[in-house]
Amino acid sequence: MKISLGSKAIAVPSPVWVIGSYGSSAQPNIMVASWASICCTTPACVAVSLRASRATYANIVEHQAFTIGIPSRDFLIETDFIGSVSGVLVNKFFATGLTPVRSSVVDAPYVEEFPLIMECSLLHMLEIGSHTQFIGQVMDVKADEEALGENGLPSVEKIKPLIGSAGDRSYYSIGKWLGETPLANNWLADKLFVDEKLVDAPIDEVGSLSQDNPDCLKVRKS
Ligand SMILES: Cc1cc2nc3c(=O)[nH]c(=O)nc-3n(C[C@H](O)[C@H](O)[C@H](O)COP(=O)(O)O)c2cc1C
Repeated sequence: MKISLGSKAIAVPSPVWVIGSYGSSAQPNIMVASWASICCTTPACVAVSLRASRATYANIVEHQAFTIGIPSRDFLIETDFIGSVSGVLVNKFFATGLTPVRSSVVDAPYVEEFPLIMECSLLHMLEIGSHTQFIGQVMDVKADEEALGENGLPSVEKIKPLIGSAGDRSYYSIGKWLGETPLANNWLADKLFVDEKLVDAPIDEVGSLSQDNPDCLKVRKS
C-alpha cells in the first residue's frame, strides 16, 4: 500500500548543477540548482528554476545568458558551499579557489575545474510560483578530454557527478552501470507472449503495433 506524502515537489534523484553568471559589475558568480533538467532536443535546451531572491536570477536577466557546470563528487564541499551562500555576500570563486573562465559563446563564466560545461543563451522565462524557470539554449558543450568515453561522449563513470535527493536534502554519488537503452526489446521477448511481428519490431514501433493489434500484448508469461 502506498502512503500519501501530500502535494510536494519530490522526485528522486535530482541533478546537482552549478549555474555560472555575471553580476552587474561583471563579477563572476555561481550557485547550485537541482530544480533542473534537459528540456528540449532541437533546439538543444536545458531548464533551471530559480527563486527571485538569488543573485543569479538578476544576473541572468541582465546578461541573457548562463552556464551550467556539472561538478564531480571530488568537489562536494565546494559545491555545497556554492549552494549555501549568496554571491551578494561572498565572492564564491575567491572563497573556493575555483577558476572562472569567460565563455567564448555566451556572456557568462564557467568553472574550469568542472568536467562538463553547457553554455546557454536565455531563450524563455516562465514564472511558475516560488520559482521562475529559465530555459537556456545550449550554444556549446565543453568537456575535459578525460571526461569522455571511447565513443567521444560524456561518460557518467568518468565524470562521477553528484546527484541530489530533494526530500531529505542529501547528496549521493552514482551507482553502477546497468545497460544501454533500449533494453526493453529483450524484456519484451523474454517476459511477454507476443506475435512474431511484434518481437521483431524496433522498440519505438511497439506502441503503434500494439494499438493496431490490442491482443498481442495481453498475456504475460511470468
Ligand atoms: C543542492 C542544492 C540545490 C539547490 N537548488 C536550487 C534550485 O534549484 N533553485 C534555487 O533557486 N536555489 C537552489 N539552491 C539554493 C541556491 O544555490 C542558494 O540559495 C545560493 O546561495 C544562491 O546563490 P546566489 O544568490 O549567489 O545566486 C540549491 C542549493 C543546494 C545546496
